[in-house]
Amino acid sequence: MNKTISLLLIGLIFPVTTYAQTGQEKFVETCSGCHGVDAEGIPGLAPPLHNTKLWTQLGDQRDRYIAGVVTSGLSGKLVSRGETYQSVAMPSQVYLSTPDLVDITHYLMNDVNQLSGGPNAELIDEFKNNPMSHSALLKIRSGGK
Ligand code: HEC
Repeated sequence: MNKTISLLLIGLIFPVTTYAQTGQEKFVETCSGCHGVDAEGIPGLAPPLHNTKLWTQLGDQRDRYIAGVVTSGLSGKLVSRGETYQSVAMPSQVYLSTPDLVDITHYLMNDVNQLSGGPNAELIDEFKNNPMSHSALLKIRSGGK
């Protein structure tokens, strides 16, 4: 079957209006252009978000850090899995709804990094109203140093 016909058929079976996207699909749609479809990063552009070592080290600061980055964006030098990133700034993702940001961050924590938890809607809303600075975020990332 050719691709156009298959896509039309899929459109008939799953009408867009009733189709709820998963966190993974939302990630692919909004973040993968920079972070890669598999969240493994794109060297020279954006770091991997599959980085269980970093997220584990962040411990109870993990939710604040990821909620802070998606609501404020990020700039400044960071080293991730041996690569240095500093030439591109991440734009804030506040144009996304809070439920979308919850789904995406939970997908990254739970499915990609196999860790529990993730920021809740209250935390995302708190940072949407009161964004963290990039330097405060990098301080959390380096363990407060
Ligand atoms: C336009 C490209 C771009 C898009 C789109 C983007 N990011 Fe980023 N992201 C970056 C860059 C670049 C950095 C590193 C910034 C730096 O070097 O300070 C980054 C850093 C991050 C970090 C910190 C990683 C670490 O190792 O500390 C997280 C978390 C993150 N992004 C999540 C997301 C999520 C979730 C989305 C989608 C909702 C997203 N990003 C969309 C470019 C992007």
